[in-house]
Amino acid sequence: MTNAPLRIGVAGLGTVGAGVLKIFAAHQDQLNARSGRPLEVVAVSARNKNKDRGVDVSGFSWEDDPVALARRGDVDLVIEVIGGSDGPAKAATEAALARGAHVVTANKAMMAVHGGHLAQLAETHGASLRFEAAVAGGVPIIKALGEGLAANKMRRVYGVLNGTCNYILTEMQKSGRDYLDILADAQELGYAEADPTADVGGWDAAHKLALLAALGFGCKVDFAGVSVEGIERISLPDIQFAAELGYRVKLVGVAEMSEQGLSQRVAPCLLPADSAIGALDGVTNAVVCEGDFIGQTVYEGPGAGEGPTASAIVGDVIDIGRGGVRPTFGVPASDLSSAAQRPEDSLASAYYLRLTVIDKPGVLAQVTKVLGDAAVSIDQMRQIGRQPDAATVLVVTHEAAHGQVRDAVDQISRLDVSLAEPIALTIERA
Ligand SMILES: NC(=O)c1ccc[n+]([C@@H]2O[C@H](COP(=O)([O-])OP(=O)(O)OC[C@H]3O[C@@H](n4cnc5c(N)ncnc54)[C@H](OP(=O)(O)O)[C@@H]3O)[C@@H](O)[C@H]2O)c1
Repeated sequence: MTNAPLRIGVAGLGTVGAGVLKIFAAHQDQLNARSGRPLEVVAVSARNKNKDRGVDVSGFSWEDDPVALARRGDVDLVIEVIGGSDGPAKAATEAALARGAHVVTANKAMMAVHGGHLAQLAETHGASLRFEAAVAGGVPIIKALGEGLAANKMRRVYGVLNGTCNYILTEMQKSGRDYLDILADAQELGYAEADPTADVGGWDAAHKLALLAALGFGCKVDFAGVSVEGIERISLPDIQFAAELGYRVKLVGVAEMSEQGLSQRVAPCLLPADSAIGALDGVTNAVVCEGDFIGQTVYEGPGAGEGPTASAIVGDVIDIGRGGVRPTFGVPASDLSSAAQRPEDSLASAYYLRLTVIDKPGVLAQVTKVLGDAAVSIDQMRQIGRQPDAATVLVVTHEAAHGQVRDAVDQISRLDVSLAEPIALTIERA
């Protein structure tokens, strides 16, 4: 093992990049000791050299172009914290890996879309590519899945992977205010971007889920194979009714491997209020890993922010400093298989249904007949709060195939007595 300095270039000096430099400034001696060699930031890159970043960058060489930084002969490791699946982040990552320099990235979008190609590039050139910070921020879930749990065949990996959505859903439930109000608060507090689509649309969680699935099941990253639904359609009544029934509504990412293939889905769903994930409030992230020998393990912590994300990055840097190159997704990139996709209709869950129907005798019988004909059996059924001429009917089903529930819901929506599009949310096992 060498004890020559590991020379580092930081590409991107925004929230995360500045956080990384602060950790080096605060803990340089400890980082060197843990790595067994000096870790030395030598160069940095961002767009605007004159911006105040709350951290002194005057001691480092400056590059306007992150690709030029990645190509510097005096940089052994590039920390990529620019962002974006393509563009300068990918160009800089490829430039570094292609000459055998290591890369540590927080970029879930790039890893979800190009992870297979980049892992192969790293391997071809004997470099490390690490991405702990890309999933659940400060929570060391990539190390847990890739190392601590490596003895297991994983069955299911799921969790709350987006802090913004969890904050919005938690606040809706606690305050009784609606989605748009709480979204505006989240934007003011800096928990949500001005354009919140990536978060509330489920895309950010989908990027992370695709990475967890690849690592957990030893298959190629398949972001296109993730079915994605966001929280935009979740309304206050569903959150309140779910609470009355003993559930919480969460945006959950679930990756499951079975004989029928791999299922990857991100969607709002109900979880028991007293489960580890159901009880998770605010911006916190949590991931549950279920393996054949370990059983269930739960990892929880801050999913974003300067300190937690930078902490995960520097952890990866220390690991690389210690020596040895480990494959990016746990097995050599060339051995990663393409998992067959499980047809979504074959999945089975219990369901929460909210129906708005005409309030007259015989309507419930029509609804139960449609469900019965589709072989969807009912666990609970309640009629709530009569409005003039309309009734809300809540149904909790036993576990049923998604395809059968979808067909039944479709038929209910076409009944003459149906006054609004039914709401159907899965109830996840937890
Ligand atoms: N923020 C979080 O909590 C968090 C959590 C987990 C993962 N991540 C991931 O970490 C990465 C960085 O996020 P961030 O929040 O730190 O982003 P950010 O605050 O927007 O910072 C991005 C940095 O990249 C620089 N940059 C952008 N385009 C560039 C270009 N063409 N050439 C050179 N530099 C360029 C910017 O330069 P200027 O400063 O000069 O404009 C800025 O310093 C993303 O992949 C994100 O998904 C972030």
